Amino acid sequence: MPFDPDDYTEALDRARAHAADWLGSVPTRPVHPTSTADELATLFGRPLPDSPTDPATVIDELVTTAEPGLMAIGSGRFFGWVIGGTLPAALAADWMVSTWDQNNGMRFATPATAALEEAAGAWLLDLLGLPAGADVGFTTGGTSANMAGLAAGRGEVLRRVGWDVNERGLQGAPVITVLAGEQVHASVLLALRYLGLGAPQLVPADDQGRMRPDELALALAEIDGPVLVVLQAGELHSGAFDPMRECIEIAHENSAWVHVDGAFGLWAAVSPRWASVLDGLDTADSWATDAHKTLNVPYDCGVVIVADPNAIRSAFSVRTDYLIHPAEGRADPFDLVPELSRRARGVPVWAALRSLGRSGVIDLVEGLAANARALASGLAALPGVEVLNDVVFTQVSLSFGTDERTREVTERLIADGAVWMSGSRWQGRAVLRISVSNWSTDAADVAASVEAVAQAMRSS
Ligand SMILES: Cc1ncc(COP(=O)(O)O)c(C=O)c1O
Repeated sequence: MPFDPDDYTEALDRARAHAADWLGSVPTRPVHPTSTADELATLFGRPLPDSPTDPATVIDELVTTAEPGLMAIGSGRFFGWVIGGTLPAALAADWMVSTWDQNNGMRFATPATAALEEAAGAWLLDLLGLPAGADVGFTTGGTSANMAGLAAGRGEVLRRVGWDVNERGLQGAPVITVLAGEQVHASVLLALRYLGLGAPQLVPADDQGRMRPDELALALAEIDGPVLVVLQAGELHSGAFDPMRECIEIAHENSAWVHVDGAFGLWAAVSPRWASVLDGLDTADSWATDAHKTLNVPYDCGVVIVADPNAIRSAFSVRTDYLIHPAEGRADPFDLVPELSRRARGVPVWAALRSLGRSGVIDLVEGLAANARALASGLAALPGVEVLNDVVFTQVSLSFGTDERTREVTERLIADGAVWMSGSRWQGRAVLRISVSNWSTDAADVAASVEAVAQAMRSS
């Protein structure tokens, strides 16, 4: 069948109308989904039709059936896990990414999207105060960004002891010791599994989850051989930042590679407000962050940054006869990430940064943290609520007394649907955890959310 642009028109018009309906409903609809995955799997999973269906009908059916199973993640009252919403420019740019359908691997083949990612990468380095010569890759998320940064580190620490991991693999290689803080995020453990490095040795942390530099020094003193140290900028429950300069200096004195997992917390580096807690951040070797969290671009979009371009390119570069490679010394998009073929996921980052400008990015990050502080103080004023962490960034962890009571209130709150906050365990206690990551959360959302918690406490 010949390509006919009109074949797209009706389906895209329907999608545009459905998108407007969805976005229009987000501010007022219950945050939680009302159907289960099992119920929807039955509806979506009917026998595959024998004959074609026109695209607009498919879109109508898709949207109408999915609607009760959608979480209003874009709501200003969604505070679950660490999940951002979507800025308008980022969403529209994401539509263009799908429309253009560029396989963003080679600069020569897809110059526009490669250039957009290079520009977005340079803006990120500037905003985050990281070395201008670093390489920036756009990954699926924080987990893969951690994996990519640690892959660069793994190759480099082995190279320093004369072992080429690309050539010889890990079998028979010098043992790499990985040190991570006691409250390391599970995604780092997963990344280490991908890399064949096993579980890290845990370094004790303080009561906010920050790695203790004295303990890091003690652990390093016992190790002979290649070392990777994983620091954290933004602990999941407290938002706390590891003491960067001190830990990095100790690690570097011991020839370790330092990777920083800053899935959401790295964004604090855009504002002078966190300059002292993040002092020394730029002296690490690699960093991971998520644009789909704090920057509020659509899923999926993580970012890996590596100070020494040779280290990341050596981990991921592929050279073959059938691909078209850039001039010596230049990197292709696929030299910086685990995949060869992928969507141009850095383009929505460019659009988000272009629309916010420097002041907008700072306002976004400072605004999230201000809302976290407002929520914490509103909730702490309710009798029976204890805020367990120092609210230093976007994260708040609460207890309602006993673990049982905390779990009851959490379940009631989620069932009520006015907000979404998720439960967890932290420092040996059940907690209700709040992450303020949505650009659109405002004072009215904060007030409504405090009232929703008060209501859940009354009715549970
Ligand atoms: C500190 C930290 N690191 C890594 C991740 C993993 O990121 P992703 O879910 O994008 O893979 C998260 C996710 O919440 C996180 O909070």
